[in-house]
Amino acid sequence: MHRRLCGTNWEDYMGTLDGKVAIVTGAGSGMGKATAKILAREGAKVVAADISGLQEQTVAEIGANAIAARCDISDEAQLSALVDLAVEKFGRLDAMLNVAGIGAGGPIESMSAQDLDRMLNVNLKGMFFGAKHAVRAMKNNGGGAIINWSSLAGLIPSPNSAAYAISKAGVVMMTKSFAVECGKYNIRSNAICPGLILTEGMGQAAAKAQPDRATVNPLGRPGLPEEAGELAAFLVSDRGSYINGVAIPIDGGWGCLLA
Ligand SMILES: NC(=O)c1ccc[n+]([C@@H]2O[C@H](COP(=O)([O-])OP(=O)(O)OC[C@H]3O[C@@H](n4cnc5c(N)ncnc54)[C@H](O)[C@@H]3O)[C@@H](O)[C@H]2O)c1
Repeated sequence: MHRRLCGTNWEDYMGTLDGKVAIVTGAGSGMGKATAKILAREGAKVVAADISGLQEQTVAEIGANAIAARCDISDEAQLSALVDLAVEKFGRLDAMLNVAGIGAGGPIESMSAQDLDRMLNVNLKGMFFGAKHAVRAMKNNGGGAIINWSSLAGLIPSPNSAAYAISKAGVVMMTKSFAVECGKYNIRSNAICPGLILTEGMGQAAAKAQPDRATVNPLGRPGLPEEAGELAAFLVSDRGSYINGVAIPIDGGWGCLLA
């Protein structure tokens, strides 16, 4: 099917992550779940982490090469323990995929200090401390890859999403800071900036609230969680070995219309 459409047979790529160990946060739903399954398909051993309990289902769907972990990414101690768990169970850590995030909108005047703290604690600090502890482990095995889920909203502002946009713009700069500081350890750090992706959580909520957002992009359709997962798998793999410090939109070209 794929070969007919674009000459690519994705099965040719199976095994591109053989021997690698990855942590995926937010692995109970949406892009985290899809990414965990794709990494496992490619041969990686996966620690599927989430706060919801749904990570158990993801692991059940993957089978032998995955373990589930409960982790609240707004707590640095839990992220440190998550990295330790990966090393204890699988012997090393090659990839940290910081997917988990929360979304909330609303006018700036309605935003309380608590709202902003919550957004930054999960979306920005959660990814920062996940990456920080991943670096500690990756240095022991000669390198690795960090992938942080930013958003198109982190590159281009829109009304009623200031707190979310600030957190995601911070993720872009955090990604680049890790890239320039940790390149000497052969640790690459890149960000993915989705447009509207039809996920169980945030994506469907956004599409329901504003249906035109799903189709306004040049491809005229929303993205699928697996499409983000394939990009992540490429960035983690040795095929992405010279890609460092970039924030890649995956948005069907939506950003071109907004720039
Ligand atoms: N879906 C989209 O259209 C879209 C667009 C741009 C960016 N993003 C970003 O992509 C990432 C994934 O989005 P999605 O739509 O797949 O999400 P989703 O809502 O489907 O799933 C998010 C997962 O993160 C988990 N989570 C939330 N808070 C957590 C915490 N404190 N600790 C651990 N896990 C926690 C949830 O339990 C859930 O399983 C998020 O960072 C989101 O901001 C999504």
